[in-house]
Amino acid sequence: MAESMKGLHRSHRCTELSNSNIGETVTVMGWVQKSRNKGGIIFVDLRDRSGILQIIFEESDVGSEGFAKAEHLRSEFVIAVTGKVEARSGAVNENLLTGDIEIRAKDIRILSEAETPPFPIEEDSKTKEELRLKYRYLDLRRPDIQRNLILRSKVANVTREFLIDEGFIEIETPMLTKSTPEGARDYLVPSRVHPGNFYALPQSPQLFKQLLMCAGYDRYFQVAKCFRDEDLRADRQPEFTQIDMELSFVDVDDVINLNERLLQKMFKESIGIDIKLPIQRMTYAEAMDRFGSDKPDIRFGMELKNVSDLVKDCGFGVFAGAIQNGGSVRGINAQGQGDMPRKKIDALIDYAKDFGAKGLSYISINQDGTYKSSFAKFMTEEELEALVNAMEGKAGDLLFFAADDDEIVFAVLGNLRLELARRMELLNKEEYKFLWVTEFPLLEFSQEDDRYVARHHPFTMPMDEDIHLLETEPGKVRAKAYDIILNGTELGGGSVRIYQRDVQEKMFDVLGFSKEEAYERFGFLLNAFKYGVPPHAGLAYGLDRLTMLMAKEDSIRDVIAFPKVKDASCLMTEAPNLVDDKQLEELSIAIKSVSKADHKTIENV
Ligand code: AMO
Ligand code: AMP
Repeated sequence: MAESMKGLHRSHRCTELSNSNIGETVTVMGWVQKSRNKGGIIFVDLRDRSGILQIIFEESDVGSEGFAKAEHLRSEFVIAVTGKVEARSGAVNENLLTGDIEIRAKDIRILSEAETPPFPIEEDSKTKEELRLKYRYLDLRRPDIQRNLILRSKVANVTREFLIDEGFIEIETPMLTKSTPEGARDYLVPSRVHPGNFYALPQSPQLFKQLLMCAGYDRYFQVAKCFRDEDLRADRQPEFTQIDMELSFVDVDDVINLNERLLQKMFKESIGIDIKLPIQRMTYAEAMDRFGSDKPDIRFGMELKNVSDLVKDCGFGVFAGAIQNGGSVRGINAQGQGDMPRKKIDALIDYAKDFGAKGLSYISINQDGTYKSSFAKFMTEEELEALVNAMEGKAGDLLFFAADDDEIVFAVLGNLRLELARRMELLNKEEYKFLWVTEFPLLEFSQEDDRYVARHHPFTMPMDEDIHLLETEPGKVRAKAYDIILNGTELGGGSVRIYQRDVQEKMFDVLGFSKEEAYERFGFLLNAFKYGVPPHAGLAYGLDRLTMLMAKEDSIRDVIAFPKVKDASCLMTEAPNLVDDKQLEELSIAIKSVSKADHKTIENV
């Protein structure tokens, strides 16, 4: 049975009704959340995207045919009900927005029946994510996911309002384009017309937005889909959305100031959070030194301390050796964790090894002030005491030390600090701690490629005072680049761009591109620089990450309507899939070999 909508108009969403509507006749439409038959009286919870409303059916109001329909209702049937708003006859439900009213049905139509769904449509679902994603269209009915997507729309909308007010123009850039390398692998799209040639899906609109600046658009923005073929994590998807912007005639502070005001408006209007301006800034060097991370979570302390000077001549070979090899010894103090059992300490040491640690040394300070330490036998009492004092260790504290190259020490202690904070429950989701990290290194050395690679992208401007080091000591050059961090997550990042052709060519040179290669790949940009280019800079946020943090979700998938899972597949559509030989033929493509893992896909198709 699927009745028509003829002559019916929805007058309200469920929670648009309140006790101020009592006495009015209304028409509501939605899904049956729950139906309870108490003999001569049937209660139905009706759900739409706004929430839940109770409907009460009695034969004397709705007639025998209407009552029979009400008796027939099951979860997820789609119905339309016309009736009168009344004060609730039974107990008021404090948990519902509409808990003090109900609709006394006069007429009901069943617009669509429903099979029993494979899992209940409810808040805080206990259902496994794989099943929910397979039936994502049902999962999307759940109130928490609906709230997240509504929030996401709000964030994008507030952003648009703000940027348009600030004189930005929204411009779309192509999806089928040439690769703009930003560190990740490209998704390629074969060309039918040009056999053997491929488009790349954009990793970001980077080059196009720079060209728009060359073209005089001055202030551009776009809510842009981006594609990166990289390993997925909780905060990464193969396709994601950026709030992307570029501005002409600006330097670092202009971009930061504008974006602080944007963030302030976004957080106030989307989730009612006040951000105090200016947002704290920290150089990359300071962030690494104090937190062992370029995206520090500053909701808690537990900062790294460099104790190299104290231990460089000590009897513990691990410490002294690391320093002799040009590394360092640094520690963190897990306050109040001095009674951590050996087993848990060993688990943390294993965790540290995932980040390159060869080991981890510790001192636990007993309540009576004596120490338990993995390396006490190599140190004098005085040396140990000096170390404890340097770490501000008190009775009941647990100190961890890592000795290695700086890079490894930072990775190990930076991650250990976060893991301890999780275990010690120091991470409060109600707290929003923003931070700008600035002055990133322009380049980093890639062992894999045996050359320098751009840390952000090849169009990032070196800092004025470091530009002369570009050819002699490229590793030391700092960039006019900045990231905005929230609670240890990189929300967005950007930079001032190189706008001088000679500097851009020099940059490509340092990155190991020959002049021919550079022109082959980026000729259109380098040529554009010949014809008058304004100084420009920009930034892009990950809209998915922004919404994830605002919604206090742990996974980016919870704020994306149709996300992909870890192996980059979509459990609902089963993409990616094999295609017909005919399609491949048209594209002049032959599949070379299919590995065992891919055979699984074949069986599924
Ligand atoms: P960047 O590469 O730092 O900069 O990306 C900007 C922001 O996009 C988000 N992001 C992602 N979100 C989800 N899944 C992913 N796989 C993913 N990758 C990135 C992050 C990140 O901070 N063109 C430059 C910006 C510029 O210089 O203006 C760029 O793309 O939140
Ligand atoms: P080993 O010499 O490997 O037996 O290690 C002796 C002690 O030093 C053990 O407690 C290790 O956990 C610790 N240790 C080993 N390597 C490091 C390191 N790189 N940093 C800190 N402690 C370490």
